[in-house]
Amino acid sequence: MASTRDWFESVAEARRRARRRLPRPVFLAIEAGAEAGVTLADNVAAFGEIRFAPPRLADLPPVRDLRTSVLGTDIALPVIASPVGAQAVHPLGEVAVAMGTRDAGTAMGLSEFASRPAAEVTAVNPRVFFQVHWSASRDVLLARAEAARAAGATALIVTLDWSFPNGRDWGSPVIPERLDFKALARLAPAGLARPGYLLDWLRHGGLPDLTVPNVALPGRPAPGFFAAYRDWMAVPPPAWADIAWLRAGWDGPFLVKGIMRPDDARRAVDAGATAVSVSNHGGNNLDGTPASVRALPAVVAAVGDSAEVLLDGGIRRGADVVKAVALGARAVMIGRACLWGLAAGGPAGVRNVFEVLRAGVDSALLALGRSSVRDLVPADVILPADFARGLAGPD
Ligand SMILES: Cc1cc2nc3c(=O)[nH]c(=O)nc-3n(C[C@H](O)[C@H](O)[C@H](O)COP(=O)(O)O)c2cc1C
Repeated sequence: MASTRDWFESVAEARRRARRRLPRPVFLAIEAGAEAGVTLADNVAAFGEIRFAPPRLADLPPVRDLRTSVLGTDIALPVIASPVGAQAVHPLGEVAVAMGTRDAGTAMGLSEFASRPAAEVTAVNPRVFFQVHWSASRDVLLARAEAARAAGATALIVTLDWSFPNGRDWGSPVIPERLDFKALARLAPAGLARPGYLLDWLRHGGLPDLTVPNVALPGRPAPGFFAAYRDWMAVPPPAWADIAWLRAGWDGPFLVKGIMRPDDARRAVDAGATAVSVSNHGGNNLDGTPASVRALPAVVAAVGDSAEVLLDGGIRRGADVVKAVALGARAVMIGRACLWGLAAGGPAGVRNVFEVLRAGVDSALLALGRSSVRDLVPADVILPADFARGLAGPD
């Protein structure tokens, strides 16, 4: 039910509002997806292939309990914000996500490529999990993580699935490194077509900014996003021994994000992960990789009780969350849904997205006769055969 004019009742509506509010290149940068967008589309479509198995006249619980915990942190619903770099869709960026997730009673991932310093984010919501890619030397990465911990982050996420894909069939948006006069002139038509976006920035005292403060070396100014990205591309991908090294240096919950195969899930656990996230980077990596939820059951079976399993990719409604949790995910992370809410309404828009998902989870629980998200079981859903098989590894 819509309670105010600004309130939206679906993630689809948040996306429509984001599209109307954001300059086209910025909207497309969020939409992203690699090459033909096969994986991007499959992430969403696969949830539609999972059906529910609702009982009739079960003991319908009067109140449902959505609470759970993830990475040592209690959360009010099994949904957290996924780490997403440079959130220039709104002037408050990750601080707005912190406000929205705090108000929703949940946690957020904070990308090392975030546009706001970790301390500003944790000051608003202490439930912050800092995320790194393998974007620097071992020592620099650990120092980066420790700086985030000193700023209040309580868990570390290392993201493994990014292979610098190129070539989107629909063309990549051109985002300038710096908003100098030349860049402003080039972007003027897109910006002027969406005056609300620019006015928001001017009201907050500046222009869209793509610096990434959490990767600054001590005593040095924060680099720009593209400079940091270029540095990252020059770093060789990690081996499992590197992940084990980082894990040994980090005292606290440790999530390996980007797992699709059961053999890799076991390797992550062997490296010391306390959690793994089944993820294909929201379809932004190797196109043709199946939806993350297709890989979930086999990863859950491989990991057993030895680690928490999370999932991200394609979550657009509360029913998707319930399907993932029924299949064994402790919680899910949302990327685009959160960004659309942020673009559509700042902190209130983020809160609104979490509220949409909360209401959807609650009504699916009611229909399934479950009083808690922790009571969901695989029998609550009906799976096509390829989901159960998962992605077989070599061993
Ligand atoms: C614009 C954009 C930027 C992202 N940046 C990061 C990042 O910095 N670190 C990371 O681990 N994942 C990043 N991701 C991936 C998300 O954390 C998440 O895996 C993905 O968005 C989930 O799919 P969904 O958007 O369908 O929810 C990014 C995703 C998008 C769309």
